[in-house]
Parts: sequence; C-alpha cells; structure tokens
Amino acid sequence: MNAAIPGTLIDPFARRISYLRVSVTDRCDFRCVYCMAEEMTFLPRREVLTLEELDRLCSAFIERGVRKLRLTGGEPLVRKNLMALVRSLSRHLKSGALEELTLTTNGSQLSRFAHELADAGVRRINVSVDTLDPEKFRAITRRGDLGVVLAGVDAARAAGLAVKINAVALKGVNDDEFDGMIEWTHGNGMDLTLIETMPLGDIDADRTDQYLPLSIVRDRLAENWTLEDVPYRTGGPARYMRVAETGGRIGFITPLTHNFCETCNRVRITCTGTLFMCLGQDSSVDLRAPLRASEGDEALHRAIDEAISRKPKGHDFIIDRAGAKPAVNRHMSMTGG
Ligand code: GTP
Ligand code: 5AD
Ligand code: SF4
Repeated sequence: MNAAIPGTLIDPFARRISYLRVSVTDRCDFRCVYCMAEEMTFLPRREVLTLEELDRLCSAFIERGVRKLRLTGGEPLVRKNLMALVRSLSRHLKSGALEELTLTTNGSQLSRFAHELADAGVRRINVSVDTLDPEKFRAITRRGDLGVVLAGVDAARAAGLAVKINAVALKGVNDDEFDGMIEWTHGNGMDLTLIETMPLGDIDADRTDQYLPLSIVRDRLAENWTLEDVPYRTGGPARYMRVAETGGRIGFITPLTHNFCETCNRVRITCTGTLFMCLGQDSSVDLRAPLRASEGDEALHRAIDEAISRKPKGHDFIIDRAGAKPAVNRHMSMTGG
C-alpha cells in the first residue's frame, strides 16, 4: 500500500514515517520543573535554522510522505516571526499534501496568535496545562502565569481552534486535580491528555519523586468516572478513553508503563536541523550541513534516507533510583517531545 508510493519513508521495522515534529526554537519563557533546569544555556542564534531553512526542510519531508507536521519548541510561539513559517507551510495544506499542520504550545502567547494560526489553516492545537491552581502553576513552570495561559486557551477556542490540554502527571503535585481537569476540559469541549514524565535531560531534581504511572491514575479515575475504550486516534502516541458522564475524551501517553514504539510513525528535528529518529535514543543525523551545502535537495534526501534506515526499534526509558541518570542527555525542549 503506502510502500508503493515512490520515495515514501519506511523504516527497517516497516513503519511508515508520516508525522514530523519540528522544534523551531530551544528557548522558552517557562522553565517547567520536569523539562528544564532553572539555569539553561540556549543555543546561539547562528546555530539555529532560519525560517526559510525550516520551511525547506519540512517541505522535503512532506515530499516524502509526511502528512502531519507539528511545530514544537521550547515554546514555538516565542520564535520571532513564526507566523511567517506557519503561513508559508500552509500551502501544503491547500495542495492536499499535508493533512494537518499543528503545534504544541505552553499557551503564554496564544491570545496574540490564535487568530493568525486559525487563518493559516491550523485546526487543532495542544496546550500544556499541568494544574489549575495558580500557585502550583507558578511553581511547576517556575515563572508562568496561569491566568495568561487560560486567556490564551479561551482565545484559541474563540478563534475556532480545537484545543487539547496536555498535563504531565506529577506525583504529589497535581495528582489530586485530575477530576477537576476532566470537568474543566470536557465542560469546555476540550480533550485532556495525561502524560507520564519521561527521563530526558538533567532537571535539578530526582525524577523518581515525580514519576506517577498512569496505570494507577486510570484505576483511581475509574472509581469516579465511567471510562470506555474508544478507537479514536490522532496519529500521536495517546490511547483514548471516553468518559461516559461528560462525553469527553481522555488520552493517556504511557511511554513507561506501556510502550507504544511498535506503531511509531514519527521522527523529530531540532531547531539546528538535527534529526532524531527516536525521542528516547541518542542516534541522530545532521541535516543542516546537507541543507546548507547546496540549493538542491539531493544531498538532503540522501541524508534523510540514511537516517530512516537507522531508526531504532524503540526507547528504553526507565526511571529508578539506582540508575539516576536520564535516558538521554538532551532536554525535551531540544526535541520538543
Ligand atoms: P496529538 O496529535 O494530539 O496526538 O499529539 P501528540 O501527543 O503526538 O503531541 P504532543 O506534542 O501533544 O505531545 C504529547 C506528549 O507525547 C509529549 O510529552 C511528547 O513528548 C509525547 N510524545 C510524542 N511522540 C512521542 C514518541 O514518539 N515517544 C514518546 N515517548 N513520547 C512521545
Ligand atoms: N516528560 C513528559 N512530558 C514532558 N513534556 C515536557 N517535558 C516532559 C517530560 N520530561 C511535555 C510538555 C508538553 C509536551 C510537548 O511535552 O508538558 O505538553
Ligand atoms: Fe517550556 Fe514546554 Fe519545557 Fe515547559 S515543558 S519549559 S513550557 S518547553
């Protein structure tokens, strides 16, 4: 079937690569405790791909069968003139080559950009909100203002964007709030996705203290809500259930308790043009050099082929006290999740 399309990207485990996640900046206006250290050194600007280079890179992948493109960061909306890239990439939506152009954001700039995103053909965005308590929100993000983010979420919905709320489940921090988060998201027509914290990069904290298996959360939720399995899929790693009482959906992203690697359809690119074939492995290929080496895309496509031929089978995340080192040394903000 798909393999018959010439040039389609198929990895050694017969998985077709149809989802590209692109981190457009490593910078962020927050410093979430599970994501970054308090003091972060960000990349010098010259290392970072220009918007034109990002467009070329994304377009090369779309040419190779990528149907879903997600812009991430750091915080994608802090990248200067990001809207120019979004507008430019939207030509692939119009041509039908791309099914979905979307982004994952912390919401801090949404009030400003929601309308432009919707105008450019973005239909759905994911916004990270780990708590509905302003004090806790400031503590988790180390500087974020919950009111600003919630106003951004409202602006996005007013602009006609479907919103999914992402919450990283943190033991002893927000695990008393999931009922309230279901009420808030579903009451406002939004999906909610809970995420297990993944061991990526040094964060000035012990991740064993934060880690909360979602199998436990699901069992606890089932005491208050009727959870029904549903086949709904977005092309992302979440498994969804329907909450009968609200009619809304709740997704679970469980890289640690249930590995979803066997159906992995994605690769990610950092803002410096490094392609990571797996979020939880170190193997990577530099695409910036072939991109900058010539105006034609031949070398770039060769490098992409070479990378996909080495896509690993899966991650080996593990969170335990004995092996306190993170699975990979880079932060989530580098690859954007
Ligand atoms: P949807 O299109 O709405 O399904 O989005 P998504 O879940 O693919 O993307 P989002 O940016 O909202 O990411 C949610 C969480 O899923 C983040 O914590 C990501 O790091 C995580 N995630 C996405 N892809 C992978 C993956 O291949 N492996 C692992 N372990 N986590 C992933
Ligand atoms: N583990 C799990 N999720 C994380 N995110 C950031 N860092 C981590 C981590 N270490 C989440 C953000 C955002 C998404 C892109 O990834 O909260 O929702
Ligand atoms: Fe920024 Fe997102 Fe990382 Fe929080 S999780 S520091 S919002 S990149």
